[in-house]
Amino acid sequence: MGLDETAQKPHDRLGAYLAADMEAVNELIRTRMASEHAPRIPEVTAHLVEAGGKRLRPMLTLAAARMCGYEGDHHVKLAATVEFIHTATLLHDDVVDESRQRRGRPTANLLWDNKSSVLVGDYLFARAFQLMTETGSLRVLDILANASATIAEGEVLQLTAAQDLRTDEGIYLKVIRGKTAALFSAATEVGGVIAGVPEDQVRALFTYGDALGIAFQIADDLLDYGGTSAVIGKNVGDDFRERKLTLPVIKAVAKADAEERAFWTRVIEKGDQRDGDLEEALALMARDGAMEATRDEALMWAGQAKDALGALPAHELRDMLADLADYVVGRVN
Ligand code: IPE
Ligand code: IPE
Ligand code: MG
Ligand code: MG
Repeated sequence: MGLDETAQKPHDRLGAYLAADMEAVNELIRTRMASEHAPRIPEVTAHLVEAGGKRLRPMLTLAAARMCGYEGDHHVKLAATVEFIHTATLLHDDVVDESRQRRGRPTANLLWDNKSSVLVGDYLFARAFQLMTETGSLRVLDILANASATIAEGEVLQLTAAQDLRTDEGIYLKVIRGKTAALFSAATEVGGVIAGVPEDQVRALFTYGDALGIAFQIADDLLDYGGTSAVIGKNVGDDFRERKLTLPVIKAVAKADAEERAFWTRVIEKGDQRDGDLEEALALMARDGAMEATRDEALMWAGQAKDALGALPAHELRDMLADLADYVVGRVN
């Protein structure tokens, strides 16, 4: 891919279109992540925030608001709120997953400790709630508070579904709709709400975010097996080590013969993992067509996201959001 094409990535085009808004969001994030009283807070937040991150969710809020003709400045507060919620959940998630790499850097739990990650995550959550109240919209508060509860539910459901080979695609969908898609859909929905568009358009924005988030997480779960650490900025194989029933594994288990089932029981349920097991799991998932089927499912959800945009008026940003849906699954194409 040449430089020109890279510059044309939908994510970059959105970033360029929303540059002024995004700069305001970043400035707000910088000022609100500080703390006068506890130096550990800016240390941890700066480590994570300066590493970047794709800023996908705040861009969704800004794009939705602008596309709906919003002219005020609450969308910047909401976009920062959404990124704070996201960052808080990442801090907590890396503790729960015992992850060592995030955004191409060592995780906060590795550099400091679990206690700092949990507490700074709580702080960011609280900061997020302060920020969103400044919009004065109870409806927006309702949406983002609900999303926060749903994310936590998704993470807890995943906790109890891990290491259990009976976890099926229905449970998996519930998990990822909660832990990931809930924030995507809230991000797009609040953009429409703040702009005051008709309800059918608010619903379309919600549906777009929901399907996009699901597609995104399925692609992320594929990359946990098929990606490289350099590309994803996280360690490959984390889900396997954590014995998580993600979609490629669920599909492989469903197709497994007796011998394969014994393998999955040993590595996932019993947690008896040996050298070469990750490679064996990859080989099984490839042979059973599980990787392929998972990729197809991600593409299907990306298609649903694009379909939802049909209910919204034509706009340059609408086209970029459609391309973004292709892009999030393009990471695994
Ligand atoms: C990571 O999200 C968490 C998942 C839902 C998989 P992102 O991949 O959007 O994280 P950053 O913000 O770009 O690092
Ligand atoms: C991330 O889930 C979802 C949330 C942060 C709530 P994962 O555990 O699958 O994501 P990564 O792989 O750590 O980014
Ligand atoms: Mg994780
Ligand atoms: Mg996790």
